[in-house]
Amino acid sequence: MKKLLDLLTEEMQRAFEDAGYNRELGRVTVSNRPDLCEYQCNGAMAGAKQYKKAPIMIAGDVAAKLAESQVFSEVVAVAPGFLNLKLSEEFLLQFVKEMRADEKFGLERPANPKKIIIDYGGANVAKPLHVGHIRSAVIGESLKRINRYVGHEVIGDVHLGDWGLQMGLVITGIQDRQPELVYFDDHFTGEYPTEAPFTISELEEIYPAASARSKEDAAYKARAMEATFKLQSGVRGYRALWRHIMNVSIADLKKNYGSLNVEFDLWKGESDVHDLIPEMVDYMKKGGYAYISDGALVVDVKEETDTKEMPPCMILKSDGASLYNTTDLATIMERVKLYDPDEIIYVTDKRQDLYFEQVFRCARKTKLVDADTELKWIGFGTMNGKDGKPFKTRDGGVMRLENLIWETKEEMYRKIREGRQMPEEEARDVAELVAVSALKYGDLSNQAAKDYIFDIDRFTSFEGDTGPYILYTIVRIKSILSKYIEQGGDLEKVTLTTAQNESSKGLMMQLSQFNAMMQNACEELAPHKVCAYIYDLANALNHFYHETPILNNDNEEERNGLIALLVLTRDVLETCIDVLGFRAPERM
Ligand code: ARG
Repeated sequence: MKKLLDLLTEEMQRAFEDAGYNRELGRVTVSNRPDLCEYQCNGAMAGAKQYKKAPIMIAGDVAAKLAESQVFSEVVAVAPGFLNLKLSEEFLLQFVKEMRADEKFGLERPANPKKIIIDYGGANVAKPLHVGHIRSAVIGESLKRINRYVGHEVIGDVHLGDWGLQMGLVITGIQDRQPELVYFDDHFTGEYPTEAPFTISELEEIYPAASARSKEDAAYKARAMEATFKLQSGVRGYRALWRHIMNVSIADLKKNYGSLNVEFDLWKGESDVHDLIPEMVDYMKKGGYAYISDGALVVDVKEETDTKEMPPCMILKSDGASLYNTTDLATIMERVKLYDPDEIIYVTDKRQDLYFEQVFRCARKTKLVDADTELKWIGFGTMNGKDGKPFKTRDGGVMRLENLIWETKEEMYRKIREGRQMPEEEARDVAELVAVSALKYGDLSNQAAKDYIFDIDRFTSFEGDTGPYILYTIVRIKSILSKYIEQGGDLEKVTLTTAQNESSKGLMMQLSQFNAMMQNACEELAPHKVCAYIYDLANALNHFYHETPILNNDNEEERNGLIALLVLTRDVLETCIDVLGFRAPERM
């Protein structure tokens, strides 16, 4: 289905042409003076020079051609030469009806659906998720859902940090605590136990302790490096222990991501490409791309037009060890082989910008990807505390994601209990749904690249540009609809009618922007556009609700029309929050 603005523009272009002017001048936009008109066209201003005519004359000529328009109910030429437009209610009704009849509310399906891999989450095994990971998970999940909704094939991959020195540190930490474990016995040839010799909480203590010690104790660090080497070169006991670490850690990660409605199709990690590295290195050497510099194997990625420093991409360290980018490049190679994607999108902290620039250039130069595979990177800003510094716990430590979610839920629960009569269990469930909306909307409503302030009071508020406000609006609609059903109404049988007042017209106009908005949010990988849209839509709905008697409207046809409008608004809002990755309760 075409976009409303395009239809309006087509009508306007016809009028420009009929009046003897260049049709390209007839671009219609949403009015920036909603007090004066709904839409506007400034083409007459631009045409003045070309036609050596006062803009108001041109605007007048065009307006005359639109006197009988089925699209615009009012076209006024105003000084110095603007065209102020009002949309015909009938035309709007037809548009919204068509939108309602389509499963995707008029969103055009892509002519060539793409296969896209989204690399997000990026959790590190054996380290608890901290607030730094929330953004990648939340933004990546939404990008996955938006692209899927639009009609692309999307594979989400968590790309675990499961292979580097951190694993050696954990193994060394375990060895110190339990040196007698059979995994460390070189002579052991039997089956290793199926039970892990640690719990998740023990695991989470081990890493920070080992990491801290390695910074002070060089011998300890050397042991951890040795353990990393043994793990990577396939020493049986180390691999078996590593499996346990992976299993325990992944179970915990799934639980945490799950509580944020974040789901991955692939739980792959850096370790999965370990065996591909020799092949890749060989290929890069043979192709003449990689060369030895100071003992290390590197690929130059500098380009003549560079104004900033662009160091070579290091493939292997002088001791032959691989690096973060070695695994990323090998992962690109594997992804191309296994999935042949049209696009790979990475969602990480924006401080990794230079890093991804190097990796992408290296992948292109060495032809790991062909020219029509796009590599995209979304760098997000920091989540700050109210002091404007990276978000911390009260005592200044790094906040665990689990605790942040818990605190938000508690706050939400308190607010729900405060204002409403609701059974304990239901209040808990509702608090959980609303808390997820508060966290996710609080994050997604900002442009990803910007830093934002995590403000629990604001995020959990039922008023303003927040997740709970959106849910509150949906619940409000649901409650009117259930009353309608209680009164004997049937939602399947209602049909939209012409807007009866300004506020229902406003709501219909806001609804009609859906297809354009969703397509744009997808093209620009911008979930914040979905947020901005539903915030406006929720406002339009609430305004409509206050201005318009619905259930006590005596005219049955009108009442049904209003109910149909509510059903559509609910469906559009629910579709939008679904692509943002949260859900609404039945009541709250
Ligand atoms: N594990 C990394 C980190 O915590 C993020 C991984 C991002 N993805 C990637 N393909 N490099 O910083």
